[in-house]
This record gives sequence, structure tokens and C-alpha cells, in this order.
Amino acid sequence: MKIAFFDSGMGGLTVLKTAIKRIPDHHYVYFADCKNAPYGNKSKEEIKQITFQAVEFLTTLNIDILVIACNTATSAAVTDLRKKYSFPIIGMEPAIKPAVEKKNNKRIPRVATELTLKEEKFKKLVERVDKENSVDYLPLQELVGMAEKFEFEDQKVIDYLQKKLSEVNLSSYETVVLGCTHFPYFKKHFRQLLPKHIKIIDGNEGTINRLMQFVTSENETQQLEYYISTVKSNSETFEKYLTYTES
Ligand code: DGL
Repeated sequence: MKIAFFDSGMGGLTVLKTAIKRIPDHHYVYFADCKNAPYGNKSKEEIKQITFQAVEFLTTLNIDILVIACNTATSAAVTDLRKKYSFPIIGMEPAIKPAVEKKNNKRIPRVATELTLKEEKFKKLVERVDKENSVDYLPLQELVGMAEKFEFEDQKVIDYLQKKLSEVNLSSYETVVLGCTHFPYFKKHFRQLLPKHIKIIDGNEGTINRLMQFVTSENETQQLEYYISTVKSNSETFEKYLTYTES
């Protein structure tokens, strides 16, 4: 089966990595729309348009399943994409539900891009599962740019996160939800700055659980193909990211 993963850039590789770990032997296609990244500070209409363009390109590769490995594109476009295409389209799991279930009267910060946190689809989901209104929103858009530049060891990351996290009351939290696929790259920075008792979760496992419900064939040989904004790319940069991420 040919399974495509799509993101605005390198973030979706954290999701692909989870897939490869759990269901290694498939033909994976990864498409990073780096030309248009970041998505998270664009308007919903703009994101819809560039996401449709990306998916249109992926259909030329005869894919069987599509994983929108991007919370922002999922929020803005997944409902409309499913109306147009007949192959299964998996969106990112927001991971709010498991966090709410475990919350022990604590508040839950969800960190994501600006658009994801503004978007109606996400707000509706939170209203459904979070009856006690315990989710706070913290946009961390700048992490996307840092990840795209592979700036992971930089003091800049720590300074930015320290500043942002000082704006919230950390002692009222128990679980931080990473709602952007670029953020698992920064798990070790979050770990360094958050109190020990705070758990960090993301939607990657949940998304792959969903994908596995659609994957039928077995005993294939693993293949990996990478594209950057429709141009076929060599694997070097992608493999650097794939081996960097902890997820
Ligand atoms: N990785 C994406 C997400 O999960 C998009 C980040 C961006 O392009 O702003 O939201």
C-alpha cells in the first residue's frame, strides 16, 4: 500500500517515524510543502488552498491512503478534503481527550500553531470533551521556524520557551498537549523547563492507531520517497530529521 504523509515542512516526519516504528513494511511517501511553510500564521482560506494543491500533487503518485501529518492543515481542510477524495484521509488526533481523562483537577495547556488554536474544528472538539473548561491555549508559532532551520541545540529555543512558559501558571498543570507535529522535536527542551510531574503528550500514536485501521496489506518491502513542494528530493535531509526526533 502506498501511504502518503503530508506536512507544511519537516514536522510530519515525527508522525512518519511513529508509523515506521509500528508498521515498517510499507511504501511511504513524504511531502514537505516547505515553499509555503509555515502554515500556522496564514488564514484558513489560504491554508485550505495550499493543502488542496498539495493533495492534488499527491494524487498524481497514485497513493492509497493519506495522513495529514499537520494539525494546522487538519483543522483547516480535512473535512473538505474528505468530500473531494475517495481514498482514506487521516487527520491528526488532537490528544485532548486522553489529557482530559487523566487530568486530576489540573488545567491542561495545549501548545500549537496560531491557526490550530483559533480554528472552529478544534474548539468544538474541546467543548465536547472538556466539560469543565480546563484547556488553556498557548500558541508557540516560532518553534516551527526553528525546527525548519534545524535549530534544536540553540539557546534561542530555550530562551523562547522560557519566556512563553513564564506567561502561564505551571503549577496548575499536569499534562502538556503538543498540538503541532513540529513540537515533538523540542520534547527535551520542554522536559528541561517543565516541572517533573508534568507529562508531555502528542497526537502521533493516536493518529497511527487510526491509520492502522485502514492498512490491509502485509509483507511488503519498506520504501521511502521524499518530496519538497512537489520536487522529488534526496533522502539526506529527511533522514537527518527522522533520526533526530524522539517520538
Ligand atoms: N506541523 C504543522 C502542525 O502540526 C504546521 C506548522 C506550521 O507550518 O505552522 O500544525
